[in-house]
Amino acid sequence: MKHLIDPMDLTVEEIDQLIALAGDILVDKTKYQEVCKHKSLATLFFEPSTRTRLSFEAAMLELGGNVLGFSSANSSSAAKGESVSDTVRVVSGYADIIAMRHPKEGAPFVASQKVDTPIINAGDGGHNHPTQTLTDLMTISQEKGHLDNLTVGLCGDLKFGRTVHSLIKAMTRYKNVKFVMISPEELRLPDYIIKDVIEKNNVEYKEVRSMDEVMPELDILYMTRVQKERFFNEQDYIRLKDSFILDEEKLINAKKDLCIMHPLPRVNEISTKVDDDPRACYFKQARYGKFIRMALIMTMLGVNA
Ligand code: NCD
Repeated sequence: MKHLIDPMDLTVEEIDQLIALAGDILVDKTKYQEVCKHKSLATLFFEPSTRTRLSFEAAMLELGGNVLGFSSANSSSAAKGESVSDTVRVVSGYADIIAMRHPKEGAPFVASQKVDTPIINAGDGGHNHPTQTLTDLMTISQEKGHLDNLTVGLCGDLKFGRTVHSLIKAMTRYKNVKFVMISPEELRLPDYIIKDVIEKNNVEYKEVRSMDEVMPELDILYMTRVQKERFFNEQDYIRLKDSFILDEEKLINAKKDLCIMHPLPRVNEISTKVDDDPRACYFKQARYGKFIRMALIMTMLGVNA
C-alpha cells in the first residue's frame, strides 16, 4: 500500500495487522515513542476537523515524529487559488507522509497521482473516510472481540455520511454481517452503494424508517450527524436534522451488549444522558482513533519498534 485513499486499498489481512499493532501500542506505548524520530507528517485540512486532524498529529508526536500543516483552506494558498496538486507537490518536499481532507470527492486521489510521498485520505466530501473506518473496525474488534457475525445498524444521514459509506465497504468482507439502514427517505444510502457494494457481495440488508422496530436485533448501532455542509438548501437541513435522536427510552429494548458508536461530532442525535450508559462507545472510539493512526503511520513509513 503506497497511499490510502479508499478503505478497499487495504486487504482484510492488512486491516487485521493494523488492528493488532494498534492494540499493542495501546498497552505498551513506550516501546513506540521514538520509532518516527526525524520523520514528519503534514496535515492538509481544507475542511474543518477536530478528531481526525488532532488524532493524526497526536499519533505522529507520540511516535517521536514532527507535524506541520494547516487546518483550513482559508489559511493556506488555496485561498489565493493554488491547486490541490500544486500544494501537495510543494508539501511533499517538506514531509514524509501527508494526511489530507478536502470537500471535493476524489481530491486526495488526484493528489496521490502527483507525488511519491504517501497520501492518506482523511475524508473527501461525501465519499470516503478510510481512517475513520479503521478506527471503527478497531473499536468493534476491541469491544466485541470479532468483526464477523454482527448486525450493524447505521442511523442518520446515510446519503452524505462518508464514514458510513466507507464502513459498509469494509464490512462487507466479513462473514455473516447484516446491515440495517435507518434513515429518512431523503437521506437513504445512495443506490451505488446498495447495488455495487452490498448487493454485489450478497450481504443481507434492510432499510427502515424507524429505530424502535429494529433496536432489539442490533449488535452495533452506528449513529451519524446530518451533514449540514453538504445540503443545498437550509430548509431541508432544518427539516431533517433531528430525524433520529437516540435517548435512554429508545435503548430499553436494545441488547445488553449493544455497542453504540458515532464518528463524532455529535449535534443532537444522541442525548447526553446516554453517555453514561455502558453501551456508549463513542468516546472510546475517538481514543482508539489515535492508536490505529499510529499503526497506520508506522506501516506506511515502513518503520518497526
Ligand atoms: C466525520 C467526518 O468528518 O466525516 N467526523 C470524523 O472524522 N470523526 C463525521 C462527521 O463529520 O459527521
